[in-house]
Amino acid sequence: MSLFRSGLLLLGESSALETLVTRTPLSAMSSRFVRGEDLDDLLPAVRKANARGRTVTANYLGEAEKSRENCRAAGDVYLELMERIGREGLEAGLSLKFTQLGQEIGRSFLRENLKRLLEKGREEGVFIRFDMESSEHTEQTLDAFEELWSEGWRRIGVVLQAYLHRTEDDVARMNELGAPVRLCKGAYAEPPEIAWQDREEVRRAFARSMKRLLVGGSHPAIATHDGRLIRETVRFARDEGIGPERFEFQMLYGVRRDLQDRLLGDGWAVRVYIPFGDAWYPYLMRRLAERPANLLFLAGSVVRESPLGVLLPGGDGRTAA
Ligand code: FDA
Repeated sequence: MSLFRSGLLLLGESSALETLVTRTPLSAMSSRFVRGEDLDDLLPAVRKANARGRTVTANYLGEAEKSRENCRAAGDVYLELMERIGREGLEAGLSLKFTQLGQEIGRSFLRENLKRLLEKGREEGVFIRFDMESSEHTEQTLDAFEELWSEGWRRIGVVLQAYLHRTEDDVARMNELGAPVRLCKGAYAEPPEIAWQDREEVRRAFARSMKRLLVGGSHPAIATHDGRLIRETVRFARDEGIGPERFEFQMLYGVRRDLQDRLLGDGWAVRVYIPFGDAWYPYLMRRLAERPANLLFLAGSVVRESPLGVLLPGGDGRTAA
């Protein structure tokens, strides 16, 4: 992993910088990747995505939460979201993080908070995906998921990150359970002892797991914007006679809409991950770390919103052409 990327990911964990950045006009940058602050901002985007042939997985932003009150409040937002998905018959599920709902407070608190969401999900027919966080949470997340699965909860799924050395074994473990897996590259700074650092190594690991999931998994989600991996997935699916009803592609809101359209046009299933909420700082920092060009966009907006901005084309100080 480059120093640049790990530096940005580290900044994503800084609460001092978060306070500074979220209070400045830089928050405008988040609107490229995050769909507003509440359900009234989110739902029009879900309807629009559905009307354009995409299913949705909606994420209320939040992680590493240590206050019981905030964890319960996040659960309440998800309950209301499921209610509205059910009422409107939207093609949408949820993506949530265990640390948003109380994993860092304790196992029994997390279970209690989660259980009401699982019950509501069953009632409304809403699928709930558990995002995967940094490696200190991997084992706990998979164990908690497996426990829920063994209690008979279905309509739930987990995420595996191709950059972790352990992931191919975890793919086998989840395939054996018959549990739906979302495969992504992985978005955190992880050390070389446990994770591939080289982009090509990560790609190769992703491709190996993708094939195992397509052949032996249960409706896997291939979550990437990497054109090479997407082409490899399409080629493999065609060669193996695996149709669009057996897996889906997933992409992030605001990223590669052109690719989403192309896949839909070729008859493949595409789901968009749409985050909303005001706790967007760590999410935004991960998106910036993935693509240096986003920083140029960010730098441009800093200049535009500073006193220097009036000197730029389109600034307030623009003279008539
Ligand atoms: P890569 O980063 O190589 O990008 C390929 C191309 O996609 C780039 O060249 C660019 O064109 C475009 N692109 C990618 N990211 C972009 C960005 N931020 N802005 C603009 N363009 C961009 N991770 C995790 O650890 N746990 C999780 O639970 C999830 N969940 C998840 C769900 C979904 C639906 C997706 C798509 C991704 C995740 N991720 C995740 C994030 C994932 O691990 C990874 O960090 C990103 O998807 C970026 O990797 P790519 O596979 O897209 O390749």
